[in-house]
Amino acid sequence: MNHDNQARIAFFDTKPYDKISFESENLSFGFQISFFESKLTRQTASLAAGFNVVCAFVNDTLDSDVLEILKSQGIKLIALRCAGYNNVDLKKAYRNIHVVRVPAYSPYAVAEHAAALMLTLNRKTHKAYNRTRDNNFSINGFLGFDMHGKTAGIIGTGKIGQKLISILKGFGMSILAYDKFPAQKLEIELGFRYTSLEEIYKNSDIITLHCPLNSETHHLVNESTISSMKKGVMLINTSRGGLIDTKALLKNLKTGKIGSAGLDVYEEESDYFFEDFSSQILDDDVLARLLTFPNVLITSHQAFFTKEALSNIAQTSLNNIQDFFQKDELPNEICYKCEADSCLKKSQGKCF
Ligand code: NAI
Repeated sequence: MNHDNQARIAFFDTKPYDKISFESENLSFGFQISFFESKLTRQTASLAAGFNVVCAFVNDTLDSDVLEILKSQGIKLIALRCAGYNNVDLKKAYRNIHVVRVPAYSPYAVAEHAAALMLTLNRKTHKAYNRTRDNNFSINGFLGFDMHGKTAGIIGTGKIGQKLISILKGFGMSILAYDKFPAQKLEIELGFRYTSLEEIYKNSDIITLHCPLNSETHHLVNESTISSMKKGVMLINTSRGGLIDTKALLKNLKTGKIGSAGLDVYEEESDYFFEDFSSQILDDDVLARLLTFPNVLITSHQAFFTKEALSNIAQTSLNNIQDFFQKDELPNEICYKCEADSCLKKSQGKCF
């Protein structure tokens, strides 16, 4: 099977909290891990020389060129420490480098953050915090709406979408949902109704995105789909930035067609998110303009960021690496055939 059976892990885009959670979980694995602060790019890929595993995150580049460099340096496994894998050229990786991910670490973390964005945008608690600290006890401009009785449109009823449905049902909201692969039994279990995207756009007071980013869902929210939404709709995106055409969003925020937007992800986030630019001027005019809107709340891809999620991420990533070196089965492997749903392996064996 694997001749080189000692994991030597090059860990890219390390933040202090990653180091803490991985070092703690690694006590029971004993792998050799080198933590690099740099993101993985064509320029930094050479740091992986001498290792056999790369551990990467959402904004690391794993395109054809980077994979070629990694392969030539002896990398056998990419261990993504995230669920989404839209940043990996899976076709190029196939039969070259195995790719594993963490399919679920805390759907609660992301669903709860989506609910937090909704509540904050609706009741303006972020502004109230600043106002009262300034001895300003006026509530002008803070008028919200009862979420009870309103309609939420959930796009994607996977692990996160389902948890959010339960939370919003707790608020007394009506739920409409769309999924490319609907799981009908959930309708009764969770108390919602599957419907078309068109009906979601037409009837929802809040629309929240929980589907993956791929060629089919890229710019799912665009000028045309926005035009069929309710005036004043609240849009929430905790999935991937590319699901929304940001220029169309900007235009429709200006007209009031979109009433508010809560974004934990952004199309061009890789240049900025997770880093401190507080003493610099933003080059990205679209992001800079978005940040001027009083009804837009941007968080920096932090929906996953809970203690429980970090610990699960570290544990599953290291387990995936252990499976690769010690077992014939690699249940969390992904390949482009798995993605196309024509993979015969599924949870048995390895993809190649
Ligand atoms: P999941 O795989 O459990 O659910 C995704 C759902 O989307 C599935 O039910 C699937 O059938 C559905 N889907 C696939 N194609 C679709 C389409 N074209 N239209 C509508 N639905 C479609 O994934 P999970 O764990 O619920 O995560 C959802 C997304 O959340 C991930 O793709 C990831 O990008 C994002 N995410 C964001 C995090 C953050 O910190 N902001 C953390 C974790 C995940």
